Amino acid sequence: MKKLMRFGVSLDKDLLNRFDALIRTEGYTNRSEAIRDLIRERFTKEEWACGREVLGAITLIYDHHYTNLLERLTKIQHNYGKVISSFHVHLTHRNCLEIIAVRDKSKNITSLAHRIKSLKGIQQCDVAMCSLGEKI
Ligand code: NI
Repeated sequence: MKKLMRFGVSLDKDLLNRFDALIRTEGYTNRSEAIRDLIRERFTKEEWACGREVLGAITLIYDHHYTNLLERLTKIQHNYGKVISSFHVHLTHRNCLEIIAVRDKSKNITSLAHRIKSLKGIQQCDVAMCSLGEKI
């Protein structure tokens, strides 16, 4: 168990009220956990900005009827070589949801997502930025 430290923060009353209202809607029962999560999110963004090794979850929606799309998606992932896991859901008659988990330097993950996003038939492609969590 890590040692906990307490510190005081001075905030404008309106800003604090807005923060409290926001974290209540998100289900937080106290400010400490909400602030810890904000700090972790900031460190994760920093890891991505610095090009560190990180985790990414690439989420895509696509029409599997597009010619050669499945083959292209498979080839891109094989050539990339750092996919940890992927998850496929047959959403509707036409559309599929796929989540691809990767561990790599952030710029390589972003580049992979751009290659996938630019394929014809991809309707949506987003990257969830995650940290390996070793330092946060
Ligand atoms: Ni499918």
